[in-house]
Amino acid sequence: MRLYRLPRTDGIDDLTLGSDETPRPARGQALVRMRAASLNYRDLAIAQGRYGTGGVPRNLVPLSDGAGEVVEVGPDVTRVRPGDRVAGIFMQSWIGGEIAESDRASALGGAIDGVLTEYRLFDEQGLVHLPEHLSFEEGASLPCAAVTAWNALYGLRSLQAGETVLVLGTGGVSIFALQFAHAAGARVIATSSSDAKLERARAMGAAEGVNYGRHPDWEKEVRRLAGGRGVDHVVEVGGSGTLPRSIAACRLGGAVHLIGVLTTGQMDPGMILGAGVTVRGIYVGSRQMFEAMNRAIALHRLKPVIDEVFPFERARDAYRHIEGASHVGKVVIAIA
Ligand SMILES: NC(=O)c1ccc[n+]([C@@H]2O[C@H](COP(=O)([O-])OP(=O)(O)OC[C@H]3O[C@@H](n4cnc5c(N)ncnc54)[C@H](OP(=O)(O)O)[C@@H]3O)[C@@H](O)[C@H]2O)c1
Repeated sequence: MRLYRLPRTDGIDDLTLGSDETPRPARGQALVRMRAASLNYRDLAIAQGRYGTGGVPRNLVPLSDGAGEVVEVGPDVTRVRPGDRVAGIFMQSWIGGEIAESDRASALGGAIDGVLTEYRLFDEQGLVHLPEHLSFEEGASLPCAAVTAWNALYGLRSLQAGETVLVLGTGGVSIFALQFAHAAGARVIATSSSDAKLERARAMGAAEGVNYGRHPDWEKEVRRLAGGRGVDHVVEVGGSGTLPRSIAACRLGGAVHLIGVLTTGQMDPGMILGAGVTVRGIYVGSRQMFEAMNRAIALHRLKPVIDEVFPFERARDAYRHIEGASHVGKVVIAIA
């Protein structure tokens, strides 16, 4: 089988195509023929050696998000069978309930080998079935970005119809949050660096758009659009550089779901107190969240927004596309 590895993490050019023996499933395992994988900002950070403090294992197979078809199962496997269309869950050991410290060590494409490979063995517990109406490319876009957006909107206190949700930018996580919130009857306000991207966001259901390039004090504009009261939820992918403005855009007692690390900055924690907001750090989500999300995706026949699909041989170009940040939604690699 062909697969990509990262012998070093000095940049995108380190991504190296090689080959290996196709593995066979042992007890409790399923062999999946991977058909598509998708990229997250994290994958770029990993390839460029700027992810976390401890780095990643040498020769890592990259990417957390992939979908494919089960081709063989080992003894005692009951959750999947050959022919099933599946995706791997981001943290292979986080099935439900609260995240455990040990779950971090099971993150695909980071702590352990990922999915940019033609075949991969999974523990049967580490897989979910794809919603029937989704292609492999669409299914491959779910495990990190979509589950993170779902956890933001439903993991702490469930989003209510009629609430207002602010999403920052038009990348993978934010577009899923937009789609989920819109489907739930919430009002979505999107920000972006680009008017053209805001038009796309409106076509997907955003009620309002704010260009944060033209409105450096975008939180004031957001508050105005939220009737002066502020928004109920912020899907905060910007990080410490945008967090103070996100809190300021929030209503008294609202929730800021802290997800991203795209910007740096400092803030006065007194802001959180003064606004009475709940700021909650999010680390993707569990298999149970993934399954609940898939039921909603199937019910509403939601289609993940895919910006571009690159062939397996052009994986480096897919990374460069994420780096260029011209995309809306997800960037996908077709594997077979
Ligand atoms: N904690 C977790 O579990 C978790 C899970 C997934 C992702 N993340 C993090 O969330 C962030 C987004 O990930 P992603 O995969 O969705 O990224 P992505 O697809 O690469 O999207 C990035 C987008 O963010 C927007 N952006 C950049 N700087 C911004 C700013 N200052 N203010 C507002 N928007 C800004 C841009 O959209 P416009 O061009 O429209 O402005 C950009 O295209 C990353 O930091 C990633 O590491 C964390």
